[in-house]
Amino acid sequence: MSDTNSLANKTVVVLGGSAGIGLATAKAAAAEGAKVIIVSSNQQRINKALEQLPQGSAGYAVDLSKEENIKNFFEKIGQLDHLVYTAGENLQLGVVETLDLEKSRDFFNLRYWSALAAVKHASGRINAGGSITLTSGSGGIRPQKGWVIAASICTMMEGLTRALAVELAPTRVNCVMPGFVKTELWGNVPEADREAMFKSAADMLLVKHVAEPEEIAQGYLYLIKQSYSTGQSIVIDGGGVLS
Ligand SMILES: NC(=O)c1ccc[n+]([C@@H]2O[C@H](COP(=O)([O-])OP(=O)(O)OC[C@H]3O[C@@H](n4cnc5c(N)ncnc54)[C@H](OP(=O)(O)O)[C@@H]3O)[C@@H](O)[C@H]2O)c1
Repeated sequence: MSDTNSLANKTVVVLGGSAGIGLATAKAAAAEGAKVIIVSSNQQRINKALEQLPQGSAGYAVDLSKEENIKNFFEKIGQLDHLVYTAGENLQLGVVETLDLEKSRDFFNLRYWSALAAVKHASGRINAGGSITLTSGSGGIRPQKGWVIAASICTMMEGLTRALAVELAPTRVNCVMPGFVKTELWGNVPEADREAMFKSAADMLLVKHVAEPEEIAQGYLYLIKQSYSTGQSIVIDGGGVLS
């Protein structure tokens, strides 16, 4: 058995691939010869992302918040080699005293339940030697004030990853836990506040900068290509949990 999987001619499906970490991962996989399929809810954003990917890449507009849509998508595309799940809407943060619990329940939908639905409908179609890579965040290990819900989701993803690795073996199932990354995820923070937030995060981080999505994409690529890790969640956070 080879110690790394070549991505040449492998099908890599990135759910949440129109922007941010997902698009960076799709680009990195395509650069290694993978046939990339990206999915997001918005056709225009898919089209824009496809302009940045090689010919032969494909994109589908699918609202991943509904299991039925996910099921239909995987029926349509058939077999694949590697599944990456990075879909997520803007963060909802808030202190516990004022949390809207109904809204907070909804926040688990796309990151947790839809990731699980994607695995449910994709796993039987993953070729031998394939993998699944999910997304969490370092906020579960080092939450800040206001992160009660977001941190809970992060930690759920770690447990889900371990349970799926056991159940779906020998398909490998892993997870990436990014720290701060410069993406549209932070789009609901006003621009001036966002820049100030990135600057103060950079000052605090051991590596002294907030990640670009391409730096996080390397983690997904590693987990896809290597052959021996499963059930693992890797932190890529510029030393955030130590600072
Ligand atoms: N950025 C960070 O600092 C950071 C840190 C830790 C963890 N993370 C996690 O990493 C993941 C990716 O985040 P990112 O920073 O790359 O965010 P992003 O740039 O906002 O990308 C999110 C992706 O999800 C897609 N999406 C949103 N709603 C969707 C839906 N209903 N159906 C299908 N696709 C949908 C978006 O596309 P459309 O809008 O076109 O649908 C986009 O492609 C998230 O789970 C996030 O929590 C991010």
